[in-house]
Amino acid sequence: MAYSEKVMDHFKNPRNVGVIEDASGVAEVGNAKCGDIMKMYLKIDGNETITDVKFNTFGCGAAIATSSMATELIKGRSVADALKLTNSAVVEALEGLPPVKIHCSVLAEQAVKSAVSDYYRKRGLTPPPEAIIDEHASEHVYEAEEAALAAAKAEG
Ligand code: FES
Repeated sequence: MAYSEKVMDHFKNPRNVGVIEDASGVAEVGNAKCGDIMKMYLKIDGNETITDVKFNTFGCGAAIATSSMATELIKGRSVADALKLTNSAVVEALEGLPPVKIHCSVLAEQAVKSAVSDYYRKRGLTPPPEAIIDEHASEHVYEAEEAALAAAKAEG
């Protein structure tokens, strides 16, 4: 499966790349299997609205495109809305990803949730359960993708 035009657009012209020095919440998530790393910075106002978001991704094209799209989907939205963002919604907004690249989108969802968690912790609050991530989720998806690829190859 080839990359959609939307994926190529967000890969070549990623939105919201950078750093927020006085961020309300920061996260760094990674996938030990593929080695990709994503950093996410959120600026959140007193109404719990995400007024700014920036990211830096050191990884594959799909990781860059999914983090770029994730920032677009949560910018200007409430923290509660950001916590509802799923990797499937990011993939859908990008008009699909190859099956072996779904784990990249999991990293984007994790980066958002983890940055929201950091926002709560910085204020001395316990993050809500929706903000708690399984740090190895994208690695598990990666392993499943690799197994599916191996099975497909074995079948010839
Ligand atoms: S190959 Fe792992 S995040 Fe893309």
